[in-house]
Amino acid sequence: MEHSLDPTRLHSAVEQAAKDLGREPDLVFLHNPEHSLREAIPHHHDLLAQACTALDAAAAKGLCAAWGVASWDPASLLNLIDTTAPTPAVLMVRAGLFVGARTLDAADALIKGWCPCGGTVWGMSPFGGSTSAPVWDRIDPRVFLRDNSQLSRVQAAFRTAYHLPQVDSVAVGTDERAHLGELVGALVGEVDERTVQEYRSLLRDQTARAVSLPEAPR
Ligand SMILES: NC(=O)c1ccc[n+]([C@@H]2O[C@H](COP(=O)([O-])OP(=O)(O)OC[C@H]3O[C@@H](n4cnc5c(N)ncnc54)[C@H](OP(=O)(O)O)[C@@H]3O)[C@@H](O)[C@H]2O)c1
Repeated sequence: MEHSLDPTRLHSAVEQAAKDLGREPDLVFLHNPEHSLREAIPHHHDLLAQACTALDAAAAKGLCAAWGVASWDPASLLNLIDTTAPTPAVLMVRAGLFVGARTLDAADALIKGWCPCGGTVWGMSPFGGSTSAPVWDRIDPRVFLRDNSQLSRVQAAFRTAYHLPQVDSVAVGTDERAHLGELVGALVGEVDERTVQEYRSLLRDQTARAVSLPEAPR
C-alpha cells in the first residue's frame, strides 16, 4: 500500500484488499511511509499518526486482523513517529548482510522507540533481492555461525539476517518450494552474537572512514 497516507484512502484500500482476497487479511503493511511523507512536507508528523490511527480503526472494525509498517529507510522515520498514536503490531525493516551501519542503527532505534512493549519485528530482503549477485561468491556468511559445518552459504546468510538487526521473522522472496525448505532448514543454525557485534563495529568504522575521507586532489 503506497502513495498515500490519507486516512480515507487507507481505509478503502484495506476494504478493497479484503474484497480482492475473499477474506480479511491477517496483516496489512503501510508500505515505506517515509516515501509518501517526503512528498507531504510540512505535515509529516500528523500524517503518519493519522495513517496509524486509520489502520488501527480498520483492524478494530475487523477489516484486517493486524496492521504494521514496513520501512526501507528507518532513518527517515525516526523523528516522525508519534507514540501517543496507535503503534504498529509489526514493524518490518531491511535485514541481512546488505544493510549498512547507519540503517542498522536507525532500525534499532526505530524498534526501540516504536515497539518498546514488544511488538513483532520482521526483517525483509535478506539477500538484497538476489542470491546470484557476484558479491555472494566473495563472502562466506558461515563465519557468523557457531557451528558452520552443516549449512550452505545461502542458508547462513538467511540465518544471520535474523541478527542484523535483531528480528523475530524474515520475509524472503522465492518461486522455488525447495528453496523455501532450505531456508526453513537453516533455522537450526546458531548465530554467534559476538561475531555479529564485531561485524557491526567494523561496519561503523568503515562507514565513518568513508565519510571522513578527504577529497582527492584534482
Ligand atoms: N518495503 C520495501 O520497499 C520492500 C522492498 C523489497 C522487498 N520487500 C519485502 O521483502 C521480501 C523479500 O524481498 P526480495 O524478494 O526483494 O529479496 P530477497 O528475499 O532478499 O531475495 C529473493 C531472491 O532470493 C532467492 N532465493 C531465496 N531463497 C533461496 C535459496 N534457498 N537458494 C537460492 N536462492 C534463493 C530467490 O530466488 P528463487 O526465486 O530462485 O528462490 C530470489 O531471487 C518481499 O517479499 C517483500 O515482502 C519490501
